[in-house]
Amino acid sequence: MDLPDSDPARLEATLRQFSWINRLLTGARRLLERTVLEDIRRRPGPCTLLDVGAGGADLALWLARRAPSLSITCLDHDPRAADYARRRCAGVERIRVRLGSAAELERLDGFDYVFANHFLHHLQDAQVAPTVAAMLGRARRLLVITDLLRSPASYFWYALFAGVFLHGSFAAYDGLLSIRRGFLPEELSALLACAAPEGRLEVRREPPGRVVVIGRPE
Ligand SMILES: C[S@@+](CC[C@H](N)C(=O)[O-])C[C@H]1O[C@@H](n2cnc3c(N)ncnc32)[C@H](O)[C@@H]1O
Repeated sequence: MDLPDSDPARLEATLRQFSWINRLLTGARRLLERTVLEDIRRRPGPCTLLDVGAGGADLALWLARRAPSLSITCLDHDPRAADYARRRCAGVERIRVRLGSAAELERLDGFDYVFANHFLHHLQDAQVAPTVAAMLGRARRLLVITDLLRSPASYFWYALFAGVFLHGSFAAYDGLLSIRRGFLPEELSALLACAAPEGRLEVRREPPGRVVVIGRPE
């Protein structure tokens, strides 16, 4: 899907299917419930979130419904994904879709929360620490990153799910490629060793087949 000349209809189908994948397979909503939404409940009042590599913005739409005090900026460097997300979020004033790269995070203002799902594995290894450091630098309250655990079990179950349900899109092929590009917790910890002062970043494995990074600015 990342290729600039990829078929537009299949690309849109992929972005549409991300919403089902996030709902059924990734546990992203549960993670957001336990982290960002719980924190928002403890600190009422207006707050902001940046979703890095937001794709079709389905998690932003879900978050906006769950947290009426939250304003969300979706960042994606693919103009076709940003355009699709803008159309999906039309009429939702609290969601703004911004076309831009995570490499330019320093140019953005701060946000209370910074979040990313299935974004980290798109980076080269050498980009991981500086990008996560920049994400933590933009977060006033909490950084939450969730990505794929590289595991034979994830590969097997996703191949089965995709073979049955994910047709007419890049989601089956790209999803398996993404699992191969995923992380082991100890690998990600090593990549992030210099990204932040000791104790600010926690890397953990979570079901189902996830590697999660929680960052606390102070
Ligand atoms: C696998 S999709 C995940 C989309 C969404 N977060 C979700 O949960 O469904 C990864 C997204 O990250 C975007 N992306 C990859 N590298 C990026 C970068 N350096 N800066 C901004 N967006 C990026 C891609 O364009 C793509 O839309």
